[in-house]
Amino acid sequence: MKIVLKIGGSVLFPGYAPEENRFYSWANVICTLVRGGHKVFVVTGGGSIAREYINTLRKLGGSSFEGDLLGIQVARLNAFLLLCACKNSCDVKIYPQVIMSVDDVVKFYEIYDLFFAGGFFPGQSTTGVAAEIGEAIRADVILFATNVDGVYTADPHKKSDAKRISRISVDELISIVKSYRAEAGTYQLIDLSALKIIQRAKILAIVYNGNVPKETLKIVGLLEKKNLEELTKYGSIITP
Ligand code: UTP
Repeated sequence: MKIVLKIGGSVLFPGYAPEENRFYSWANVICTLVRGGHKVFVVTGGGSIAREYINTLRKLGGSSFEGDLLGIQVARLNAFLLLCACKNSCDVKIYPQVIMSVDDVVKFYEIYDLFFAGGFFPGQSTTGVAAEIGEAIRADVILFATNVDGVYTADPHKKSDAKRISRISVDELISIVKSYRAEAGTYQLIDLSALKIIQRAKILAIVYNGNVPKETLKIVGLLEKKNLEELTKYGSIITP
């Protein structure tokens, strides 16, 4: 399968600094997927470090545009760290640099089996990067490894009555995200621009808890067996 794997910053950095064990666990999972015959396109988020940089920049009078540039760079640093972890732990064909745009994937798609990306350009998030790559390579699935076990009706870390949705169409999810946008600072699991790309490219997406990286292998195994019912135990399915 062609798999885009977006690893949220919160999952890579449960604490404040990069933890080598976390990176090592993810490297093992990614290498297992590639050895299993999948092509994998990893996108890493910026996490708390990106947010801290952006907050400091704001205090220094920086603009949103400059904040985005910082976020892009931090996400790329995380991607590079994970790229190095994979290079040192498995013998698969890895594109040797963090990709800077979707063009890199298109150009080198045939040669390499594993790619890493952070941010691409200002005005979006790394979920947008994952969606763009997914569309360009006609991905079979985009996996969103995040710090919650699926899509909820509201932010489950903030609202105790938030309900988990095991399966939802991308059209329905777009309506929900649009309603969140009416209230500033509310739950934003996948941003609208990313969802619109997923919608037009008709890509299946899964949102799951990435705090146990090995669960990614279970999810991919269930996808291969087309056992979507069982898969909903591990994450929410967003259907095209
Ligand atoms: P993230 O995608 O990491 O934001 O990008 P996030 O919402 O904190 O997600 P996770 O939890 O880490 O995965 C960090 C910041 O980098 C900029 C944006 O400012 C974003 O908020 N960015 C990132 C871009 O401007 N363009 C990109 O392509 C990616």
